[in-house]
Amino acid sequence: MQDSSRMLVAQSIQQINQQSERFQQSFYQHLYQQVPAARALFPNTTAEKTKLVSMLSTFSRLSNFDKLKPAIIALGKRHLAYGVSTDMYPPFKQALLATIQETLQEEVDSASLSAWNEVLDELIDIMQKGDAHE
Ligand code: HEM
Repeated sequence: MQDSSRMLVAQSIQQINQQSERFQQSFYQHLYQQVPAARALFPNTTAEKTKLVSMLSTFSRLSNFDKLKPAIIALGKRHLAYGVSTDMYPPFKQALLATIQETLQEEVDSASLSAWNEVLDELIDIMQKGDAHE
């Protein structure tokens, strides 16, 4: 992943954090629309958002990405235990991208969105194929 993508994502995260309540509500709406089965997986609606955003923030800021890799592999394994299936990842990503666009509006441009795309693809790839790298 390119450093410029990390920077753009880190920048959006700062903006998202300023309106985290709105972001959270919008994300769940999009997620449950795309993946109705996901509703049953969340014990409460606040858990994922804060952790997800802080996780993404760590990921995008870290220049030495290899350090974080074992943690992402472990995160992927925990998701299996939560009941998350591989087919839920693409709509999850779409829900997240739609929420970013909706929340940040003119603050987000196409370069930032493609940076998010890149970051999420990489994360998802490691979460899902983690075992293969061990
Ligand atoms: C980029 C992909 C994703 C990232 C970075 C991510 C990140 C996280 C993080 C950081 C947590 C906190 C708990 C932990 O660390 O184990 C979490 C929990 C969870 N995630 Fe995700 N997630 C992703 C994709 C998904 C998908 C596709 C689903 C299913 C629709 C999902 C459903 C859940 C559920 C059900 C929990 C547990 C909530 C709880 O028990 O409080 N996640 N996720």
